[in-house]
Amino acid sequence: MTIENDDDLRKLLRIGRICGEALQHMLARVEPGMTTAQLDAIGAEFVQRHGARSAPILAYKFPGFTCISLNDEAAHGIPGERVIQPGDLVNVDVSAELEGYWADTAATLIVPPVRPETERLCRFTRRALDEAIGVVRAGRPLNTIGKTVERIARKGGYAIIRELPGHGVGRSLHEKPSVLNFYHRQDRTIMHEGMVFTIEPFFSAGSGRIVTDRDGWTLRTVDHSLSAQYEHTVVVTAGEPILATAVN
Ligand code: CO
Ligand code: CO
Repeated sequence: MTIENDDDLRKLLRIGRICGEALQHMLARVEPGMTTAQLDAIGAEFVQRHGARSAPILAYKFPGFTCISLNDEAAHGIPGERVIQPGDLVNVDVSAELEGYWADTAATLIVPPVRPETERLCRFTRRALDEAIGVVRAGRPLNTIGKTVERIARKGGYAIIRELPGHGVGRSLHEKPSVLNFYHRQDRTIMHEGMVFTIEPFFSAGSGRIVTDRDGWTLRTVDHSLSAQYEHTVVVTAGEPILATAVN
């Protein structure tokens, strides 16, 4: 969507903040021995207490309130009876709707003990998000984001999961445009003031190829390599972008 007035911005920021706080609340509660369904319930309780609804359920009838993806699961993992183990890489993706406005945010956390190679994967993916946010500005080509993400992936020696792009968001969960995580020369989209989209780099320590599990939802790396993702919903301005899902 494009923010047209103060009311649009206020409402987008309201749901953005709920998503961001729900994510931090869930990440703070992760511990070995708990199931992903228990972690999902913590997020569900938080989001519902703030009057919001789960975007994956609302938009796709997803069988979980949030998406929780472990280790080689890249995205869209279904919360269930799987028990979180020491050393697991836990990706939590929270998207929700309130008053007709939608936001989307995610992060990846390592359950101790932290292996250096896992920490490095997360650090580079996080850095790709941060640096990509840093190039967002009205008047610039949208593909500057993909160029930036690609540069960090190359520097770290990681593959980008190319099938999973960021996306427009705001009036529904997935809107145009796609915000590719690699440089696409033919993409002539120019960022404009008020434009709302997610940036969400996915890095893999392996080939970056993914496949859908038999459950019909979970996206898993083909070679079972670890993957990490970080995501914010941003609003383009003439200066620094507004991070709708940031919590301070
Ligand atoms: Co998301
Ligand atoms: Co998203």
